[in-house]
Amino acid sequence: MKPFTIAIDGPAGAGKGTLARRLADHYRLNLLDTGLTYRAVAHALLRLGLPLDNVSAAETAARQVDLANLDRSMLSAHAVGEAASKVAVFPSVRRILVEKQREFAKGPPGAVLDGRDIGTVVCPDADIKLYVTASAEVRAQRRLTEIESIGGNADFNEILADILRRDERDMGRADSPLKPAADAHLLDTSEMAIEAAFLAAKAIIDDVL
Ligand code: C5P
Repeated sequence: MKPFTIAIDGPAGAGKGTLARRLADHYRLNLLDTGLTYRAVAHALLRLGLPLDNVSAAETAARQVDLANLDRSMLSAHAVGEAASKVAVFPSVRRILVEKQREFAKGPPGAVLDGRDIGTVVCPDADIKLYVTASAEVRAQRRLTEIESIGGNADFNEILADILRRDERDMGRADSPLKPAADAHLLDTSEMAIEAAFLAAKAIIDDVL
């Protein structure tokens, strides 16, 4: 039987990571946050003090990415996400990571993958495609709340500007820009708590199953 695949795409901070985890738990599927693979490449270049446009070093780092050993705590920094969106523009780097992501998706019993190009490029034949969005203001507010909840402080307008810049880079790049697949179900979480988003996604999936 073909492994069951759920593809989740959307901009930074829309809640797709949390949703992907809930769905993977619920349907007992493997889970891959593909953003971590781009972050791992960026992190390797930053650690080596290399510029983010050093394509051959980025390709080498991409080949070394081990999906079984992606350390979220090391890769979660905001600056690493920002750097990831810079190395993610290079087609040769994407090709290497997409290959690994496709292999992952093939494993039994199936998988939930979240990212920017899962429904359009990585798994165009996914059984379910979700495109998860929220307004930039809501995403900025969520990020601010998250920072404040761990005792940090930040400026709402700076976070918002940051989010808009990242959206522009992810949606504007030539190779695999962020966009909903033609057959994706749109889920706007601007006014939804995570539980409501999970139930809405579950309703869509159970309808197809
Ligand atoms: O989702 P996350 O914030 O971890 O992703 C970091 C960056 O990696 C994104 O801004 C995007 O540029 C890139 N990315 C990508 N394709 C994916 C996942 C992430 O280009 N499938």
